[in-house]
Amino acid sequence: MLKVAVFVSGRGSNLRAILNSHKLRKLIKVQAVFSNKAACPAFKITEEYSINNYVVGKEENSISNNNLSEFLKSLKIDLVVLAGFLKMIPNDMIVDFRNRIINIHPALLPSFGGKGMYGMNVHKAVYNSSAQVSGVTVHFVNETYDTGKIIAQRCIDISDIGSPEEISERVLAVEHELLPYVIEKFALNKIIVGDDRVTVLP
Ligand code: GRF
Repeated sequence: MLKVAVFVSGRGSNLRAILNSHKLRKLIKVQAVFSNKAACPAFKITEEYSINNYVVGKEENSISNNNLSEFLKSLKIDLVVLAGFLKMIPNDMIVDFRNRIINIHPALLPSFGGKGMYGMNVHKAVYNSSAQVSGVTVHFVNETYDTGKIIAQRCIDISDIGSPEEISERVLAVEHELLPYVIEKFALNKIIVGDDRVTVLP
């Protein structure tokens, strides 16, 4: 079983999609969930599933950024999934877990990414640009926001859309499929990281 840590900052609908996936149940175990906020709504989900949760950052009783990588190693984590996590990942953890940290982004990178591009900010920017397609990207995490190698993307036609909220709804439904799909491929060793491109085997 692949040991997975999920990092969240919000409601955790992607976390729930991972936990509800029948295919993943046989392949992975969500070992721990981390958030930068003690009052993170997604922690309610961890209680339902009896998964340990931890706060990272400077709050009292939290794991400091300096200790995070070692802590994940002590849990023998194989894959880190950022599912709506809004803080920067410490550099030493990126080095220690190179090509083992993935992030889901609610648009088609390399457009509409970077610092400050999260949640509704993304969908508003897409809406205001008058883009006719949006989508979902799952990528490896490197030292800068939203620039790691892309693993998988899905396009969504938004030519008929009336608001950023509608884009968000349509995109979220696809996120809930694409993230478990990529985790499944990772668990089956079907993600090949080449020098130039990442390939996902059928
Ligand atoms: C998702 O749109 C994800 O792509 C983005 O933050 C949102 C998190 O949603 N990075 P949830 O907490 O999984 O419901």
